[in-house]
Amino acid sequence: MPPLPFEIPTPDADSIRQLEKAWSRADLARYLVRWQNSRLPELPQAFFAFPRQALDIGCGMGRYILTASAARADTAYLGIDKGGFRGGSMIDRIEQAARPNLFGLHTNVIPMLPRFAPASLDEITIFYPNPWWPPKHRQKRWSYHPILPLLATLLKPGGCLTITSNEAFYLGEFRYAVAHRPAMIGLENTYAGPIEIETAEAGRTHFEVKFMETGVPCGELRFRKQVLS
Ligand SMILES: C[S@@+](CC[C@H](N)C(=O)[O-])C[C@H]1O[C@@H](n2cnc3c(N)ncnc32)[C@H](O)[C@@H]1O
Repeated sequence: MPPLPFEIPTPDADSIRQLEKAWSRADLARYLVRWQNSRLPELPQAFFAFPRQALDIGCGMGRYILTASAARADTAYLGIDKGGFRGGSMIDRIEQAARPNLFGLHTNVIPMLPRFAPASLDEITIFYPNPWWPPKHRQKRWSYHPILPLLATLLKPGGCLTITSNEAFYLGEFRYAVAHRPAMIGLENTYAGPIEIETAEAGRTHFEVKFMETGVPCGELRFRKQVLS
């Protein structure tokens, strides 16, 4: 089945104004204060013992990390999801798989990200994040969020960031943010277009399978962290 067309637009002038306003006010340290008294899980140290590290943000029930970890023994896969049902089910599935390069945390990813060392990840994936459609919730989208620039910092040189969505506007805003947000440095856009998955069974995540089964077009952006010579 050929991929369904997927145009990724440039945000309109109002969206650009809103994005720039959010970036100018972004203060990550102040944002993170809300977790300062929370008990958060430790990052699994065994994750860092592998040659390569891959983080799946909002991994849902873990379909991607379960499949990918079986295919690549040299890469440690860590999925993080905070959802009550999906996060719990992901942990059960990971425990059942009992694979040394497969890790899961049932928690909010935002306060966990600053715990990774800079340049410690080869791959970051964000499959089908909540698009937070209502304008009053736009601050929760990745492109507006104070933590977005940290994703670039956490990638190793040559590392890849992938984000998918069924919402073209969402990817348009994300691509704009990577290109224009001042703190967002060193990411080169290597792909922007429809997902390159042929069949629903080959869907990388539960949402991708569901979208493909129901004929919903989906898009993907890929970025590569530049290698400075
Ligand atoms: C639309 S679902 C997609 C799940 C999965 N990536 C997939 O494609 O099947 C979005 C997921 O992101 C998770 N999520 C949203 N915000 C999160 C956060 N701050 N920390 C961890 N997980 C988050 C939700 O719990 C939900 O499981």
